[in-house]
Amino acid sequence: MTMILRLSAVVLALSVSSALAAEPPKGDAAKGRESYLTKGCSYCHGTVGQGGGGRTGGLRLANMDIGYEAFLNQLRHPVNEMPPYVQSAMPDAEVANIHAYISSLPPPPDVKSIPILNR
Ligand code: HEC
Repeated sequence: MTMILRLSAVVLALSVSSALAAEPPKGDAAKGRESYLTKGCSYCHGTVGQGGGGRTGGLRLANMDIGYEAFLNQLRHPVNEMPPYVQSAMPDAEVANIHAYISSLPPPPDVKSIPILNR
């Protein structure tokens, strides 16, 4: 019995320390781009995250500066019309890759740098 208690204390300590040490996983942006284009994200959010696509007129994701936790949460529990992406359909590692891809997208160009908008 004492042995079991000791073991569970060790297991508990290990899981607490790994939870505290948990950092957002490092994603692979190139793989994330693949998933982004093949798992439906681009349909609603545009091929380079520019937004404006799909029936719902999805939102811009490029350069939105969203943290991994908030990103993961939106995918697992979307607030409104976006379909949920469950763990079995999209594991955390794939979500991390897509997050890396989104984070790598450049901001839109400055309006002043677009000649037709400056006549
Ligand atoms: C059917 C259309 C659709 C698809 C497919 C879709 N989204 Fe969305 N997404 C939306 C809509 C609409 C919202 C606005 C909030 C909501 O409905 O939950 C949104 C919101 C978001 C947000 C939050 C934006 C903010 O400003 O807070 C993120 C991040 C996001 N989507 C990422 C993704 C990713 C990554 C994928 C693919 C794995 C994806 N979405 C697939 C429609 C879609």
